Amino acid sequence: MKIIAGNWKMNGSRSELEKMVSDLESVDTQNTVILCVPFTMLGVSGCRTLLGAQDVSTHTHGAYTGEVSAQMIADTGAKYVIVGHSERRQYHGESNNTVREKAEMALANGLIPIICVGETMAEKQAGKTMAVIESGVRESIPSDVQTDIIVAYEPRWAIGAGLTPTHAEIATAHKLIADTLTQMGLSGTPILYGASVNGDNSADIMSIANVDGVLVGGASLKSEKFIPIITSVK
Ligand code: PGA
Repeated sequence: MKIIAGNWKMNGSRSELEKMVSDLESVDTQNTVILCVPFTMLGVSGCRTLLGAQDVSTHTHGAYTGEVSAQMIADTGAKYVIVGHSERRQYHGESNNTVREKAEMALANGLIPIICVGETMAEKQAGKTMAVIESGVRESIPSDVQTDIIVAYEPRWAIGAGLTPTHAEIATAHKLIADTLTQMGLSGTPILYGASVNGDNSADIMSIANVDGVLVGGASLKSEKFIPIITSVK
């Protein structure tokens, strides 16, 4: 059983989400399917697909115009929230510390954080991939995790670019994450791979050791692209 999570980013509409969840109803799968959608689409009625948000405030409530708290996300019935996605790190300057605070908010409100880590092209070229991944895991995960979390490895240079790392690169990164999680007392935490996943490469990627599922951007927007990923593995 794998975890297939979609990240709609700033795309779609409520009616498109309603169509997607109705298309997903008939899919024969044991895999866990999650859709992380814009805040405005959370709480779609009659939705049996597991929904998540894509970001959360570090604050609990109050005078923070434009922010959405973990409690508000949980109030919609959503179960998950992505934290530390590379686009948040890149365009909003989010550090590992900020990501950890967001994950703490999620956990305190019963949400499962999908905590993203991964290296930029500059970091990759400088030979820092492993160091960035390890510090990302150690610094972005709260210290006293008692419930479920999910970690996603997203090589930032490969996102939306149609690029994917080699098998060996994915295997090495996921082994490092798994070993680090074990050292942190979090063995068994699912580790997703994300960046340019599609129906043609998903089964292959999910056959790699320590890859417990995928986080899918572009190919999660339309059911004809997303369903083949869901059904590509048992
Ligand atoms: P992509 O995005 O699948 O479009 O590369 C992945 C992600 O950003 O989660």
